[in-house]
Amino acid sequence: TKLMMLGPPGAGKGTQAQQLAEKFDIPQISTGDMLRSARRKGTELGKEAAKFMDAGELVPDEVVIRIVKERLSEPDAEGGFILDGFPRTVGQAEALDEMGVELEAVLNIEVSEEEVVRRLGGRLSCPNCGATFHEEFKPPTEEGVCDECGSDLVKRPDDRPEAIRERLKAYHAKTAPLVDYYRDQGVLIDVDGEGTPDEVYGRAEAAISD
Ligand code: AP5
Ligand code: ZN
Repeated sequence: TKLMMLGPPGAGKGTQAQQLAEKFDIPQISTGDMLRSARRKGTELGKEAAKFMDAGELVPDEVVIRIVKERLSEPDAEGGFILDGFPRTVGQAEALDEMGVELEAVLNIEVSEEEVVRRLGGRLSCPNCGATFHEEFKPPTEEGVCDECGSDLVKRPDDRPEAIRERLKAYHAKTAPLVDYYRDQGVLIDVDGEGTPDEVYGRAEAAISD
């Protein structure tokens, strides 16, 4: 199974991708997580990407395409995968086509801008394992502590209001054209992203099984 999650920042791509990855027993490949992990390790890639990420801008195509190519050549990606946050530009989508990857379904998670701002504004992230919580919608069992690994939760630097605005701009200018790109390829599935995570998951799963 080869799937991809498309949608604005904060639509719930990561939340849904994690569940779908478990259900289909395939790896979740998140470029955002990979870049943040490079950053924690202090690699050149991580340092270079950090400037763009904190400002809410996209990291240059060639950088992201390179890390995805490497990741897809790992053995666990042979049986399929779910791409989360890649491709994000037409250039990245074309590069994926050139790698010979045929996506079976692209889930386009649709939510209002108002809801995106609510979700990102309250998000709490685990800097250690990448788990995501929300102050209001998905509070951790113990305040400020990751349920999965016990680390202290943080707010992502790009979840500040100015950075959220930039990310939405980048989405509209560079990522939204992928909706038509994949509709033309006949693989796009629109999923209503409003409601609880379980409700959205139910819709996503039903749409894939169809
Ligand atoms: P990335 O990490 O991909 O960020 P994003 O696309 O902005 O997506 P998010 O992780 O913010 O949101 P999400 O849709 O996954 O939502 P989530 O499930 O967390 O990228 C970050 C940066 O890296 C980019 O800005 C760019 O600089 C760079 N980058 C990454 N990939 C790149 C690429 N391909 N090319 C170039 N640059 C790239 O949910 C959000 C919150 O809402 C959480 O708190 C969650 O608990 C809550 N929530 C989720 N679902 C629901 C629900 N149904 N109801 C209520 N709350 C919910
Ligand atoms: Zn954790």
